[in-house]
Amino acid sequence: MPNSHKLPWWRTNVNYQIYLRSFKDANGDGIGDLQGLLEKIDYLATLGIQALWLTPFYPSPMKDFGYDVADFKMVDPLFGDLSTLEQLVKKAHHNGLKLITDLILNHTSEAHPWFVDSRKDRKNPKRDWYIWADPKADGTPPNNWLSVFGGSAWEWDQPSGQYYLHTFLKEQPDLNWRNPEVKEAMLEVMRFWIDLGVDGFRLGCAHHLLKDPQLQDNPPAKPSHPRKDIGPYDMQQHLHDKGHPDLHPLFRELRHFLDNYRPEFPRLGFGELHGCSWEEWVSYYGQNDDELHMPINFNLMNTPWKATAVREVVERVESILPDWAWPNYALGSHDDPRLVTRVGEAQGRIAAVLLLTLRGTPTIYYGEEIGMTDMEIPHEREQDTWGLRMPGLGRDGARTPMQWSPRGNANFSPADPEKYWLPVNPNHHEVNVASQLIRTESMLTLYRRLLFLRANTKALQVGSYQGLDFAPDDCYFYLRAHRSERFLVALNFADQVRECPLPEQFNQGLILVSTHEREEKNLAGNLVLEKNEGLVVKLQ
Ligand code: BGC
Repeated sequence: MPNSHKLPWWRTNVNYQIYLRSFKDANGDGIGDLQGLLEKIDYLATLGIQALWLTPFYPSPMKDFGYDVADFKMVDPLFGDLSTLEQLVKKAHHNGLKLITDLILNHTSEAHPWFVDSRKDRKNPKRDWYIWADPKADGTPPNNWLSVFGGSAWEWDQPSGQYYLHTFLKEQPDLNWRNPEVKEAMLEVMRFWIDLGVDGFRLGCAHHLLKDPQLQDNPPAKPSHPRKDIGPYDMQQHLHDKGHPDLHPLFRELRHFLDNYRPEFPRLGFGELHGCSWEEWVSYYGQNDDELHMPINFNLMNTPWKATAVREVVERVESILPDWAWPNYALGSHDDPRLVTRVGEAQGRIAAVLLLTLRGTPTIYYGEEIGMTDMEIPHEREQDTWGLRMPGLGRDGARTPMQWSPRGNANFSPADPEKYWLPVNPNHHEVNVASQLIRTESMLTLYRRLLFLRANTKALQVGSYQGLDFAPDDCYFYLRAHRSERFLVALNFADQVRECPLPEQFNQGLILVSTHEREEKNLAGNLVLEKNEGLVVKLQ
């Protein structure tokens, strides 16, 4: 067991993802902003998390709500200005919170001056900063690559007589990372934010950065079912437009930069990669801790919510990671249906216990701590371009405003956000921070208890993990241990009571957290778990 004093911050912290548009609106325009977030730093600090991952705040035409960046070194006036961001960094640090910003490496907005120049004419010095290609002899796109958001990944540019590549919207042209000037320009962007004080980057779409330079066609998908159905994009094997082997040397360069730009305080590279095999996922940690610090692990989100399946994922992570690599887990994001919508409220509580007691850095999605659910957004009110282009795939439901109180607009904004962005979920009368803060049995109280316990317990932060085979059916038990400290986590995934005689070394302890209101705090001999109950027990 490594000495925890020497561990980097990102191993012991809990991340909290803030979808900025939806967190807190201070200027009354119905859209969340940096000033609003500043006002909520106290809430976040007392919640007990230690790092914020902030979704994009850069100037943007907002075709993909900020993931289409028109200037990487500025703040969109919709969200505030650079000085508010500086204040945010200071206030976050003052409250013991690290700040991870979202950096979209794969593409820019078509409105970015780099692309404006690139599309001017074929001789423009910025032409090669993006991926341009001639049509086939019959005028059709250079190959069969598809956009994640539907249709061909190529857009015809009439004036210059070539196609350009866009893995996402046509308004989001892909950068050409094989051009060293592009790499240097993006490192310059990172230097800018590091100088301003940010502690790390969520490297968006990292999986897509390099493509086959020969632009070979992708083969059709293998008959095995895709894990997550995202429409026609799933009908291909993304052999040539994603996960290219050249990503490894590129990630090594990025890692070298993050470690060495300010060697006294290396910055975090937290990379977004979807739909890879376990072997591919782990490969992005590098050969010797020399690529991404942590490739984000979304696997629990795509796993059936069953004790055996969840255990299998955790133990796959445990067995596949080299000793020096650190696990991480997330149960929600702005791109996926919300946790409680997927598993229900009772199991949402089990999920909280799981996420905050596993070995590995957890990421909480905003509102998860109060059990926010997806809201059904009628098609005519949808904002997300993905949903507008491909009905059923919209992500708005998981992006509705944070529910701060039972009152008007959930105290998210003085304006009605529905007029400018998305409606407040009507369940905010029950599901909100203010009401849950004062209720001992609320989801928020459960999260706060778990976060407090994790922050103060070495065994939960850095201790070893061991799955326990004596758990009854539909239950998942594991041990977290550090030196003499031992914690038993017992999770009942069933909607029925489960009873279990405990082996000797596990049968004495103190129940520190339960998803249920429990009178008996001592564990002695037999363990009876109520339906959907989860426990954290300090063993004697
Ligand atoms: C973000 C998505 C976005 C995609 C394309 C990802 O990093 O998580 O929300 O749609 O980039 O821009």
